[in-house]
Amino acid sequence: MMDVRIFKSAQEAAQAGANLIEEVVLGKDQPILGLATGSTPIPMYQALIQKYEAGTLSFKNVRTFNLDEYIGLDGAHDQSYRYFMNTQLFDHLDIDHANTHVPSGIGADHAADAKAYDEAIEAAGGTDIQVLGIGNNGHIGFNEPAEVFIKGTHIVDLTDSTIDANTRFFASRDEVPRQAITMGMGAIMSARKVLLLAFGPAKAQAIRDTLCGDIDPRVPASILQLHPNVVVLLDEDAASLL
Ligand code: F6R
Repeated sequence: MMDVRIFKSAQEAAQAGANLIEEVVLGKDQPILGLATGSTPIPMYQALIQKYEAGTLSFKNVRTFNLDEYIGLDGAHDQSYRYFMNTQLFDHLDIDHANTHVPSGIGADHAADAKAYDEAIEAAGGTDIQVLGIGNNGHIGFNEPAEVFIKGTHIVDLTDSTIDANTRFFASRDEVPRQAITMGMGAIMSARKVLLLAFGPAKAQAIRDTLCGDIDPRVPASILQLHPNVVVLLDEDAASLL
């Protein structure tokens, strides 16, 4: 079931998202969070940091699995998703960094790393809540529009438009990674709850296609229609075509 909630501002939606994550963290001895990078979850992560600083929420027993990472960037690179997670969230919490997992983009055998990542998620019992942003083209994680849904963690070639879009974060286009490693639809769909966030007018069409269109791998997020427990938090701009 899709529980769609529309807020006046991204800030209010982010607060609601943080409250849902708090519920999960308080409700279990060893909560497992699936996390995302990108601009969308930043205000929600800030709201979680505030809860921690206020002393109402501890992440001591929390384990996390992130969606994706660039191939070729180590965690010290300021555009890596590991660096993003440390600086935007983990460094500000009482979480044990050893319990935070981001797929490795620098191993010698990416296929083996991908397999090990899925096995680690499975061994943890799957995620209690998976946070997702959405691309303008409907992608979730780095699951780009394609002819089929891919189940496992896998390596993807970035599209030219994604490379172009990311060039602004690097010294030159040549430095932009050409590939990424991403969680597949299997781990995302096995989350006990999915929290999809989208803010701003650029996401409106993807949100409409995801919620109201056919289930189609050319709109990767549309697979969420098959998930039994999805909460969608939108601002009015992202909801404007519903
Ligand atoms: C991030 C991720 C991506 C982003 C999406 C939206 O880990 O997997 O799917 O969620 O590209 O990015 P923003 O939030 O920057 O608009």
